[in-house]
Amino acid sequence: MAGDELKVVRGFSSKASPLPQDLLKADTREVPAGLLATGTYPSADKTIALNRYCSPEFAQLEKEKLWKKVWQFACREEDIPNVGDRIPYTVGDLSFMIVRSGPSSFRAFYNTCLHRGTRLCDGMSSGESVRCPFHAWEWNLDGSLKNIPSRWDFPKVDSEKYRLPDVKCETWGGFIFVNPDPDAAPLSKALGVLPEHFASFNPAERFTAFHIRKKVRANWKITMEAFLESYHVVETHTESLGFTGDASTQYDVWDDGASHISRLITPSAIPSPHLGDHASVADAVNQAFQAFALAMPGVPVPQYDPASRLNGRAQVAEWRRQMMGAGLGRDFSNVSDATMIDSIQYYMFPNFCPWFGEGLPLVYQFLPHGDNPNESIMSVRLTVPVPGGGAPRPPSAPIREIDFDERFDAVPEIGLLAIIFDQDMGNLPRVQAGLRGAEPGHAFATLGRYQEQRIRHFHDVLDRTLEA
Ligand code: FES
Ligand SMILES: [Fe+2]
Repeated sequence: MAGDELKVVRGFSSKASPLPQDLLKADTREVPAGLLATGTYPSADKTIALNRYCSPEFAQLEKEKLWKKVWQFACREEDIPNVGDRIPYTVGDLSFMIVRSGPSSFRAFYNTCLHRGTRLCDGMSSGESVRCPFHAWEWNLDGSLKNIPSRWDFPKVDSEKYRLPDVKCETWGGFIFVNPDPDAAPLSKALGVLPEHFASFNPAERFTAFHIRKKVRANWKITMEAFLESYHVVETHTESLGFTGDASTQYDVWDDGASHISRLITPSAIPSPHLGDHASVADAVNQAFQAFALAMPGVPVPQYDPASRLNGRAQVAEWRRQMMGAGLGRDFSNVSDATMIDSIQYYMFPNFCPWFGEGLPLVYQFLPHGDNPNESIMSVRLTVPVPGGGAPRPPSAPIREIDFDERFDAVPEIGLLAIIFDQDMGNLPRVQAGLRGAEPGHAFATLGRYQEQRIRHFHDVLDRTLEA
């Protein structure tokens, strides 16, 4: 309907729970320009056909037109810290081997032996060359053929033609990306606003403090979409409502045709607007103190001080600056309140979700699992600033695999996050099961115009990608 767009409500606030842009005006520090920036994607209604979440044909189309054609997040540089280290990046039944080929250079190869097809790398490994475990064909780190046992038996094998086939591999901020399309534009085109928005966050100077890979009985898009909106918080994470501005979340999309980026800002240390105008700011601040303290065992937990010259959010931010500063030997004194405490999550099409800020510095990656459209893998890592004062860079945490029927609370050291992820995971197999049995006349999802716009944008881009 013409003019209908004007009726869109851009977030739902209450007196106790302002919208993010109003909170940013009250920040005690200069706010990074990226946080003040807002997206330009028009609001619209959208329905999504449910068969794209379970059809083997659709998954096959994604393999050919999406995963073989776009820049995608593979791993972090610190996962392979030494020359010769390598790790697989496996997306569906495609697999690539990411190799540190020099002190600060990386290469990515098809993870398949040119003799009889064996997967070359099936976990973190290392060495001056890549040797197949079956018959020991061997390649140098630049992909050139090094050795074939019984070379006399392969007179037709031309060493030049038996270089390991490689794929494009570039880095940004310590993140390694690959693109199997030899004609792809450079990574910088796909990053869009990310380098500018993350400049103050310096993702290169961070290390992976924990890294979990969870197998999920749901399509990779179902798993991912559950993390692109805060609309589900009111029902799924009810106990967070006291200190989370879920419905006041700001959503933004930036799309210039080459880069497809979206973001949410969910404010912390304010009550949910669902709790109404009379919700307690003091309770919100105290609960935020408690939630952050779960990740810092042994640290004394302050209480909201109504007499302080600082508002409640600023009190939590100041405590975080001091605790993190003392723990890491770094100076957070100029870092904005929002950066210290809010949940600010970016998304780059198709599988990369880096969070911004110290509130929740996570990185998500979403991947299809094998050729089964009903299964996926979600990788979650926490990136922490590298300690200051010349301390050595801590090693990247080893990957902790969590199987389909295992829960995140098997990793209690991640504190409150384990409870939250288990709540999310509880929904996902039910969504997958439900959508597969939908009544044929109503086999579509219906998206909220504002709060689910990042999902709409994702499907808009997916459609364009699959049609290309
Ligand atoms: S399959 Fe790799 S050496 Fe034979
Ligand atoms: Fe959630």
